[in-house]
Amino acid sequence: MAAPRYRWQPTSAEIAKRFNLDIRDIVRFDHNTSPFSTDWAPSIVAPMAQSLNEYPGASYSEIRDAAAGYLGITDDMVVPGAGIDEIIGLVGRAFLGKGLRATAVTPTYPLYEIASAQRQAEFIAVSYGEDFEYPFEAFGEAAQTSDVTWLCIPNNPTGDRIPDDTISSIIEQTRGVVVIDAAYAEFSGDDWAPWIEAYDNLIVAYTMSKAFGLAGLRVGFSVSVPNLADRLDSVRPPGSISSMSAALASVALSEPKRMQRHVEGLVKERTRLSDSLSSLGIDPRPSSANFLLCDFGSQAPQIAEVLLTEGLVVRRFPDDHPLVHFLRFTVRAPDENDRLINALRQGTAETLPRTP
Ligand SMILES: Cc1ncc(COP(=O)(O)O)c(C=O)c1O
Repeated sequence: MAAPRYRWQPTSAEIAKRFNLDIRDIVRFDHNTSPFSTDWAPSIVAPMAQSLNEYPGASYSEIRDAAAGYLGITDDMVVPGAGIDEIIGLVGRAFLGKGLRATAVTPTYPLYEIASAQRQAEFIAVSYGEDFEYPFEAFGEAAQTSDVTWLCIPNNPTGDRIPDDTISSIIEQTRGVVVIDAAYAEFSGDDWAPWIEAYDNLIVAYTMSKAFGLAGLRVGFSVSVPNLADRLDSVRPPGSISSMSAALASVALSEPKRMQRHVEGLVKERTRLSDSLSSLGIDPRPSSANFLLCDFGSQAPQIAEVLLTEGLVVRRFPDDHPLVHFLRFTVRAPDENDRLINALRQGTAETLPRTP
């Protein structure tokens, strides 16, 4: 059987061309990225632009130091990568292979299954219940015999955050490593540093792409006890992060106040967007992340298409996906969210009466 593939979303340039729109009017509600400008970045990278003839330092010690400072841990616990996506690949290379087994819930971030399949590992997908009940028992059982257990906390795309006692029981009972994908941890206010100190089979993956608002850099890192970090480092390519990306990520990590201010604003905006959607009769699921998942019934694909014609790109799910009737919206800046709300108000009240 062919390994599952990651399905790319169309680019803003492709959407602008298809619908004859100005690219500046396109808003990405589908990538869970940040709406804030990175106008502070050019002054940092401009001087570097004159010495791009050399490779970046392959150890990326500036990222290790900055990440260690950010989390209050030591730098031998950090492994840098080109986003969490590369960290997921490193985990696959270090800990999975033929005859080994990985487990995750479904739906979740699709790359866990893809990375596991690429390593020819058996992949166990444990489904959420009909009404999004977390499959505590079945998942815990599958994790026990897994070599890698993937946990997305908060989970993308559902937005829920499983309780601490479930997490610790999974980490304590499994025979393998547990990977917490903490892509949205800043939005749920989670501090995983004490967990990493407590568990020698835990790897936590962080990104600069979401709360830090630097998705274009492609920088992430893993944190674990040094022994696991060393295993990941041993399969890491030498130069997957550009020197400019490494420099910007290090600065952002050493000045987390900007990120914290942005997160505070987005968490407030999450409530406002959620309330506005509820007032339209669209009830988002509770979310601990920077996105909201909403049930539109069988109209979901058409609503996504109508929004797309206005340059509002939302996350829809393929026909064979359990969330085919849902749309996911990234919480963006207030004016951008207002465009979404207004378009939905018109779309739901006039063009597309909602019949779940
Ligand atoms: C749960 C989760 N993990 C990882 C990623 C990718 O992160 P990165 O940009 O660091 O590769 C995403 C992106 O949407 C995500 O939702």
